[in-house]
Amino acid sequence: MKIRKAVIPAAGYGTRFLPATKAQPKEMLTVLDKPLIQYSVEEAAGSGIEHIAVIVSRGKDAILDHFDRNPELEQFLKEKQKFEQLHEVERITGLAEFHYIRQKEMLGLGHAILMAEEFVGGEPFAVLLPDDIFDCPVPCTQQLITAAEQYEASVIVLGRVDAEGTKKYGIIKPHPIADRVFRVDDMIEKPGPERAFSDLAIIGRYVFTPEIFQAIRDTEPDHRGEIQITDAIKLLRQEQPVYGYLFEGTRHDCGDKIGFLKGSVSLALKRPDYAAEFRAFLRDIDL
Ligand code: G1P
Repeated sequence: MKIRKAVIPAAGYGTRFLPATKAQPKEMLTVLDKPLIQYSVEEAAGSGIEHIAVIVSRGKDAILDHFDRNPELEQFLKEKQKFEQLHEVERITGLAEFHYIRQKEMLGLGHAILMAEEFVGGEPFAVLLPDDIFDCPVPCTQQLITAAEQYEASVIVLGRVDAEGTKKYGIIKPHPIADRVFRVDDMIEKPGPERAFSDLAIIGRYVFTPEIFQAIRDTEPDHRGEIQITDAIKLLRQEQPVYGYLFEGTRHDCGDKIGFLKGSVSLALKRPDYAAEFRAFLRDIDL
């Protein structure tokens, strides 16, 4: 099973970031010097993904422009001999073949992924939620792909969370089968600590077999009228095994304001070009 395609859902309103997202896509908010979505695209490209479908909606044109060529800017940078910037601008465009699919109605993450059915064309594929930035020795999606190829099945990435986390993420009922690998025996979307099966949460990276699309179609909308991918995975696992993989590395959940700030600070402290100055600055802040 060779995984060459990925889907990045980026159609949501970004309400958790208002007012920043009133007139610009959440996915284009900048973490250090790159828009949030570029981290997912680079992770996919670094995991052998060649085709990326971004699910978009009205007001998301900046994403299309960001991954497109900009001949005027390229010419300008060439004339000014700003070759480093030129190289960077050209590199972004070449990260993958980009495809854009419109989700006309906000009917949930499951529905957004269903929009990519034709693009996927019956192959297994990866899904990356751009809120999460992973900092891993092996790209997180590559870790998942390796597990999916080994088990020839859908695999979702897992991370351990505290009681608060059980309110923010889908939680699985795990059956351990190998180092870092669990068979998923059940799952609930954002159960809260009382109803959570475990501390193992679904965190924004998936590899699916194409049968997920039928499962999404068979999924009933939740109380908010949204089709949750977690509910579709529950149906899928009645037909075929689904596995969870506890990834190796660090994750920054930049999906809300405080997480975004924490992620930005953590990543800045690891950047060779900023770290020393930024660390000194933080040390001087009177806490
Ligand atoms: C979605 C999924 C949830 C998952 C989370 C990971 O929730 O529905 O199962 O744990 O992403 O970030 P959302 O963040 O879109 O509310």
